[in-house]
Amino acid sequence: MRFPPSFLDEIRDRVPISAVVGQRVTWDRRKTNAAKGDYWACCPFHGERTPSFHCEDRKGRYHCFGCGVSGDHFRFLTDLGGLSFPEAVERLADMAGLPLPARDEREEERARQRASLHDVMEMAAGFFQQQLQSAAGAKARAYLRERGLAPATQQKFRIGYAPDSRNALKEYLAGKGVAPDQIEACGLVRHGNDIPVSYDWFRDRIMFPIEDRRERVIAFGGRAMSPEVAAKYMNSPDTELFHKGEVLYNLARARKSLGKDQPVIAVEGYMDVIALSQAGFDNVVAPLGTALTENQMELLWKMTPEPVLCFDGDAAGLRAAWRAADMILPAVQPGRTARFALLPEGKDPDDLVREEGAEAFRAVLAEARPLSDLLWMRETTGAVFETPERRAELERSLRELTARIRDESVRFHYSQDMRERVQAFFGVSRGRPPAAGSGGPGQRRSGQRGSTPGQAAGRLAVSDSLSRSALARRAGGVMPLRETAIIVTLISHPSLIDEYFDQVETLELTSADLRQLHAALIDAAAHGEASDRDRLRQAIKTAGMEEILERATLMVRGARLWTALEDAAVEDAREAFAQALHLQRSARTLHRELKLAETALDAEPTDENYRHLIEIQAQLQDLQATEALIEGFGVSSGRSDRS
Ligand code: UTP
Ligand code: MN
Repeated sequence: MRFPPSFLDEIRDRVPISAVVGQRVTWDRRKTNAAKGDYWACCPFHGERTPSFHCEDRKGRYHCFGCGVSGDHFRFLTDLGGLSFPEAVERLADMAGLPLPARDEREEERARQRASLHDVMEMAAGFFQQQLQSAAGAKARAYLRERGLAPATQQKFRIGYAPDSRNALKEYLAGKGVAPDQIEACGLVRHGNDIPVSYDWFRDRIMFPIEDRRERVIAFGGRAMSPEVAAKYMNSPDTELFHKGEVLYNLARARKSLGKDQPVIAVEGYMDVIALSQAGFDNVVAPLGTALTENQMELLWKMTPEPVLCFDGDAAGLRAAWRAADMILPAVQPGRTARFALLPEGKDPDDLVREEGAEAFRAVLAEARPLSDLLWMRETTGAVFETPERRAELERSLRELTARIRDESVRFHYSQDMRERVQAFFGVSRGRPPAAGSGGPGQRRSGQRGSTPGQAAGRLAVSDSLSRSALARRAGGVMPLRETAIIVTLISHPSLIDEYFDQVETLELTSADLRQLHAALIDAAAHGEASDRDRLRQAIKTAGMEEILERATLMVRGARLWTALEDAAVEDAREAFAQALHLQRSARTLHRELKLAETALDAEPTDENYRHLIEIQAQLQDLQATEALIEGFGVSSGRSDRS
């Protein structure tokens, strides 16, 4: 029989989980803190001598850090005690002093009904598969072939075809004795008061069965083959079996394929899942036509502590990634978060593996960034922090972000991480105590004058891990503002290329995208194609770099660096450009020196090496201050300059 969830919750509330588990284990007296409801014991699920089995009354859960088992009251009794679920409920209800609820006949009838709906869905899946192989399915077979789906892949995903008919499926099912109301309950027909005769929901579409975690078909996705059809993809409506936001496509297979250290990957579409599977990635799931929901995130977390969420590398994809980050942030926990992989612009995973193979996708995964990087990027990219007010504003939004994390310890570490990023971003302040309010209990770092080398080394460890972070590695997409402005100025005012040719040619840029643009520019100049704006633009277009230029221009506009744009008088452009060029060269030199100084201090933590490092940091700081004075060419290049 089924028990109402509220009844099970009532039991969980009344009985501390330690009282259930305590009947089978002996608590470790040293590690246990009973007052806090925090218990430790040797794990009863696997043999061990030191206690790594943890049981928390507040959460009502146990977890073994040795073998990984975890669960609640009921789980403990079924898994260790060998009871069936109803038996466990009975035993615990007894402990809680609660009477068992009366049998719910209606609910049991619904459960029976659900079982038969599964049968109907299974029949429908079989019908669509069979249609794909029939004469009516010729066009669909050709379409799938063209998209590169091998027959084995089609079989594996049970891909089918819904014929172009208003009642082919309906009649097929009726012929098998399925009642009309069951067909309706499965969402396989359109029906309702204003529809006199129900008709097939899916017509002339490639069909993708959607399975639940036990591999039973619960819904379908259907793709139109013709580009003219308004809805490219259509899903089954929500039914008794199917709740769109609570299901992930390919969940069962992904779960089975999981090996050690292999995270689950979430992509956007059916075809992405299927193409990736064909390329050897079975650990991939997708939501069903909506953005990832909290519910789906929970499903992912049940399988893996750090799922990788994949997004398109364009503006819309980035926005989707940010939305997902906002959704996840409150729910992160120690060891439970997500990573974000951004695809090359304009490609989905399906395109990528088809055009460039599995390696290309693996490379994208390897570049996946942690949640904290993504949030930091969002708050800082393209912005200019040239005034104390703006910096304070950045700190405030970061504080507000962190405050949304529910888990106390993750929240603490986030605010520390963000504080460190801010300090690394704006440079370490010289000789001044940390600003009031910026030093919370987590304030360990010290780069101030008078610190010992040991303390400095602690700080270094932090900056080092920052520079090694995925953000600093920069997947081509992030363009420091100053560099961007320099390149855009040159394209807006090509006469400056000639005028400053030696310096332009030897320009060092950290952004891969801008380096490409720079190379095209030098190339054009060498071929005499940089004599005027239009020819130069044409050359850039021919080199396939129009999109990068567009992005760069947008960024410069966003930062209101008008002198870099075409409308500026060339005198103004020249002046700003010369300054930026000078700053760029000084910054590159100083960053190189900083690296050397850090290495030296690492190798030999002497006072002298420490003072040298501080000196260079001070110079960098001065440089940034100068830069902040020059309107626009703001500090946002500071941190990104580290490479
Ligand atoms: P995309 O438009 O990115 O399509 O939609 P796709 O996955 O690349 O599909 P192909 O390669 O053109 O076949 C991503 C997902 O959004 C949902 C579907 O779940 C799709 O897989 N979607 C898209 C809809 O639900 N309806 C639509 O009209 C379009
Ligand atoms: Mn696609």
